[in-house]
Amino acid sequence: MTQDELKKMVAEAAIEYVVPDSIIGVGTGSTANCFIDALASIKHKINGTVASSEASAERLKSHGIEVFDLNSVNEISVYIDGADESDNHLHLVKGGGGALTREKIVAACSKKFVCIADESKLVDVLGEFPLPVEVIPMARSFVARELVKLGGRPVYRDGFVTDNGNVILDIHDMSIVDPRKLEKQLNDITGVVTNGLFAIKSADVLLLGTQDGVKKLEK
Ligand code: 5RP
Repeated sequence: MTQDELKKMVAEAAIEYVVPDSIIGVGTGSTANCFIDALASIKHKINGTVASSEASAERLKSHGIEVFDLNSVNEISVYIDGADESDNHLHLVKGGGGALTREKIVAACSKKFVCIADESKLVDVLGEFPLPVEVIPMARSFVARELVKLGGRPVYRDGFVTDNGNVILDIHDMSIVDPRKLEKQLNDITGVVTNGLFAIKSADVLLLGTQDGVKKLEK
């Protein structure tokens, strides 16, 4: 199976976690897109969705799936989204698509976070994939200097603006041995909106698409 086929397989497996008659949180990226396409076939069973990006909202609407503003929703039963990396503790690196802040907000509001990924995303130590940090534009250089002090090599994602009007610094060359500590340290830098580590609140379930089928890791 190709990587795209693995993503489709794992996205379809996540349909089992969709809670009928509830609001579903929907992530961003190519794996989340496969999930949106699968969700379309059971859209009559749910009350609607909250999307973690404008792109996902557009795709959901194109399937005739209702998308709510988070402020008008009391509860999200489950959040389903991809990741750039996961370790065995279900700590994640996310934000390759630049939607990390809204992803973190929707994940925080959800009762359960089911992460869907192909097997290439499972790693022993996080950090080979550059860690995205969303930054208020005027603080970009200051934050970059602070990231260097923490041992990283920040690279400005040139020409990219988040759905929130901010910029992204991707931290290269950082082996993340203590993800919870680093997540907090990065968020404590003035000018940082949030970072792509999902460790303080990790995924609850990781569905991995492998050549031997879908494997499930749980906290
Ligand atoms: C977007 C994300 C995505 O979940 C992550 O980049 C994985 O994307 P893909 O499913 O395309 O591999 O965090 O901000």
